[in-house]
This record gives sequence, structure tokens and C-alpha cells, in this order.
Amino acid sequence: MTRSPFLRALAGEVLDTPPIWLMRQAGRYLPEYREVRARAGGFVELCLSPDLAAEVTLQPIRRFGFDAAILFSDILMVPYGLGRPLRFEEGRGPILEPIVDRAGVPVLDPNAFHSALEPVYETVARVRATLGPETALIGFAGAPWTVASYMVEGGSSRDFAKLKLWAYRDPAGFGALIDVLVDATVEYLDRQVRAGAQVVKLFDSWAGSAPETLFERWVVQPTASIVRRLREAHPGLPVIGFARGAGVQTRGYGLATGVTALALDSGIPLAMACALQAERPVQGNLDPIALLAGGDALASETDRILDALAGGPFVFNLGHGIVPQTPPEHVAALVGRVRG
Ligand code: CP3
Repeated sequence: MTRSPFLRALAGEVLDTPPIWLMRQAGRYLPEYREVRARAGGFVELCLSPDLAAEVTLQPIRRFGFDAAILFSDILMVPYGLGRPLRFEEGRGPILEPIVDRAGVPVLDPNAFHSALEPVYETVARVRATLGPETALIGFAGAPWTVASYMVEGGSSRDFAKLKLWAYRDPAGFGALIDVLVDATVEYLDRQVRAGAQVVKLFDSWAGSAPETLFERWVVQPTASIVRRLREAHPGLPVIGFARGAGVQTRGYGLATGVTALALDSGIPLAMACALQAERPVQGNLDPIALLAGGDALASETDRILDALAGGPFVFNLGHGIVPQTPPEHVAALVGRVRG
């Protein structure tokens, strides 16, 4: 297969035009997504329907010609595969039954896990079979710290107090949960790669809530073992690490985990992004609200990023997901500007 621009950038090549894709490129800002979402009934049902999930994965590729497609699913499908009840409520986000102690830590039964998540692997295979060779397919999972945050808090959280109290007071018990998540994540991503994902991304959206000690133990170490174990099975597999909010800890995260590329949030100044890029490819980091703003602000923020980073190995992206109010025309304008 011809190497897509996205895979070339992750391999360290500097391209004349940087590849571009956007976090949450499939989602509520697209009318065609909302139509399929309504047909699916629920969000979990959508993730578990290969036909519909493949369709929404491909929608933004057809509309904008992004360089990469990202599997349509959710980081909370891993807890679901571990047998944890999961639902999404309009306006509230994900809701799980909170795990309060070591006795509540689920056991990974690989057969049950894979049979629950088989539709996700099927979606990967269908999307890969549909995409042309110029478009890469990204598989993904949440990193253990972030997935644990939802499992322990029972949903989204403002201060992560339950999560962090458990990690501080009972590291052995908390470690049992993280160990299960490491094993499950390796199993899950291995299957995605075997089904056709060419790159995997680890979303650690709440990495920034962990101060140094917790960050090292529960963000860096579990991520490092996932990367090591995946590469044992798939030598050379490109892995993108997204430790959102990690700030000055981002460099150490890259060094210690061995991720191929660092996805940067919008809080990372471009001078720091350039320094990080001297060690490995970077991806990012336009503010999603600048994309929502459009016009001159979008143009000048885009150019600032291109001026700073397009001379090295680089993938253009946002610093976090597209917000639902974003006009699709702004996305088209962004793609046009990045492609010159
Ligand atoms: O296009 C893509 O990026 C691929 C699909 C994708 C989704 N979620 C679809 C989704 C990906 C990669 C994710 C990752 C994800 N999910 C993360 C990490 C990235 C980040 O945003 O920080 C997190 C933290 C989650 C958990 C999650 N899923 C929350 C907190 C919510 C509710 C908030 C919201 O935006 O509604 C979701 C729901 C969700 N995941 C939606 C989509 C398109 C919206 C659900 C809907 O259509 O009703």
C-alpha cells in the first residue's frame, strides 16, 4: 500500500503540505451525523452498529478529504466491554456505575470482552476496506488514568476527587483497576490493528489533573506498558499519545512512554511545541474555539501554527475536539488554508 501523507509525517518526514485531521471530526456539528445518530437510537447503539459507525467514520472524509479517518467509537467502550453498564444522557454526558473500592474492580475475561466489542473491530475492517490508500485509519482507546476517572467518578468530574483520593489512599487497590485497564487496552488495540487500524492514539484527556507523583505512576507508567506490549505484537506500530493538560510534563511523557508522536493541546505554546518536535513528530494544536470563531482569527491562528511547525514532522489538528456549534464551512475553510 502507498504510504499516506499522515503515515509519512508520523515516520518523521517533513511534507510540503502537512496532513490534517481533526479530533471529533465525526460528530454533532455535521447534519449527516445527526441524521444517522437519530436512526441509531442511542450513542452506544451507534458505536455497536458496524454499518452506521462505519458510515459516520467516513462522513467527514467524504466532505473534507481529511488525511486520516478515526474509528467512530468512544473511550468508554472499554469499560462497557468489561461489563460495566454505560449510558449517555443528553446534556450530561456518560454515566457509569461508580467503582468505589478494590472489590468492585472488574475482571478481564478476554472472550466476553472481545465478543462484546466485536462490532467495533468489524467497523474498523469495513472502514479500512472502503478508504483509499491515501487516507490512513486511526484506531484509539482512552489511556487508563482517563478511563479510570469515568469508572470511579461515575461520569464526568470537575475535581476528580474520588479518583485521586483512591490513588493516594490505596495505591495497591487502585493499581488493580489500572492493571485491568492496561490489559484490556492492549487487547482492544491489538484487535483494532489486526482489523486494519494503521495507527493508534491513546487519549489521556484528564492527564492534566494528575500532579507529578500521580502523573508518573498512573499516566506515564501504564501508557509506557501499553506502548511496549503493542509494539511486541506489532513492531514499528505508530502510537500517538495525547496527555491533555500535561504542560511542562509533556516532554518527559514522550521520552518515558516511547510514543511515536505527541498530540498537543492548545495550552502548549508554539515555542515549546517546536522544541518537542526536535525529538518526535507533533500533532496539534489549534484552539477549537478559534475554529468556531472562523474568519480572521481562524486564519491567523492557523498560519501561526503552520509557520512554527510545518517545517518539521507535523500533523495539523485541533488541541481538543470540535465543538458541536462549529459551522462545517469553517472546517472547510481550515482545510483549504492548511492545504494552501
Ligand atoms: O470523530 C472522532 O473523534 C471519533 C470518535 C470519538 C468520540 N469520542 C465520539 C463521541 C472519539 C475519539 C472519542 C473520544 C473520547 N470520548 C474522549 C477523549 C477525547 C476528548 O474529547 O477528550 C473522551 C473523554 C470521551 C468520553 C465522552 N464521550 C464524553 C465525555 C462524551 C460526552 C460529551 C459530548 O461531547 O457529548 C462523549 C460522547 C461522544 N463521543 C459524542 C461523540 C460524537 C457525542 C455523543 C452524541 O452524539 O450524542
